[in-house]
Amino acid sequence: MRTYTLSGRGRRPRLAEDPDGLAVRLGELLVGQSEAIDTIIPYIQMQQAGLAPEGRPVGVILLLGPTGTGKTRTVEALAEVLHGSGKNLLRVDCGEFQMEHEVAKLIGAPPGYLGHRETQPMLTQAKINGVASDSSDISLILFDEIEKAAASMARLLLGILDKATLRLGDNSNVNFERTLIFLTSNLGAKAMQRVSRPDFGFEAMLPPKETKDTGRLQGIGMAAVRQKFSPEFVNRIDSVITYRPLDRAACEVILDQILANFARLIHNRLGLRAFRLQCTPAGRDQLLELGISADYGARELKRTVQRNFIQPVAALVAQGQIPPHSTVILDARGGEFSILLRQ
Ligand SMILES: Nc1ncnc2c1ncn2[C@@H]1O[C@H](COP(=O)(O)OP(=O)(O)OP(=O)(O)O)[C@@H](O)[C@H]1O
Ligand SMILES: [Mg+2]
Repeated sequence: MRTYTLSGRGRRPRLAEDPDGLAVRLGELLVGQSEAIDTIIPYIQMQQAGLAPEGRPVGVILLLGPTGTGKTRTVEALAEVLHGSGKNLLRVDCGEFQMEHEVAKLIGAPPGYLGHRETQPMLTQAKINGVASDSSDISLILFDEIEKAAASMARLLLGILDKATLRLGDNSNVNFERTLIFLTSNLGAKAMQRVSRPDFGFEAMLPPKETKDTGRLQGIGMAAVRQKFSPEFVNRIDSVITYRPLDRAACEVILDQILANFARLIHNRLGLRAFRLQCTPAGRDQLLELGISADYGARELKRTVQRNFIQPVAALVAQGQIPPHSTVILDARGGEFSILLRQ
């Protein structure tokens, strides 16, 4: 029997079991944001059980929080887990729809209008079905950075979120009943960051703080969302997830992911010229020291690794200075990185 334990009055029940290993696999890709995983998985299970409500998308989930903390990554990771590829999702970059007339690109121009033939709507049934797979019939749709879109985007979304349909310019209807819709936004993120700074240094070694301020952070985010969007729009959102700034422990795991990806790239791209990578504890600490950033999240960590490890190694490869099967080691001393070669 599947058991649930309630994690507090009025709170979402925490999953005590994870029969498909979905939550575990998602947790390996998305670090330090367990609230996101606990919130998303029940929607997937509802659809898998055939108990998702009819005439609505499987779920409408708003992802709020600071830049670089994993909002977009969440949907890519879910696509990887559900469909085997992080690319199996339909992403609408709302920043490209800042002008009212651009929103029409989503649905295409009506027949007879100028540009009717050239404008392929972005949200067609074929495109939605095309991002599902044999392993799951749920299509993931991501409206990224919704606060950047023109107001008519929110009006267009109202019908999708509520009735799971969208009428295109050519009068055909698109069905969104098998879609899980994610909206991401940075609204309120600055104010949230002032309330919760990540735990660095000594504090990072203490047990993680109770999630007591998650409710407060969400309140700040939602206040900003309510200011920007109509009550009808806000009312159609099923769940809101507030992303926390990444703490040091999360950054350490993400650093391992970045280094593993780099090693995989070397293996896949260089073939017989491939070599091994290593990082000394001092090299790692220096990468974390420079790369942990409350303002830019994990993107700063990625940039730090790129500048101080990937680019210097690439230069050595280009100069033919790394013999095959050798080990390239990143070390640091006195705040300076150095790259060592071991044959
Ligand atoms: N929690 C996380 N777990 C694993 N990787 C992460 C996480 N957060 C960020 N990253 C890494 O940093 C990159 C940027 O993160 P992402 O695009 O998800 O940020 P975001 O929260 O959507 O920020 P923005 O608001 O600027 O769009 C990701 O591609 C991923 O490599
Ligand atoms: Mg993003």
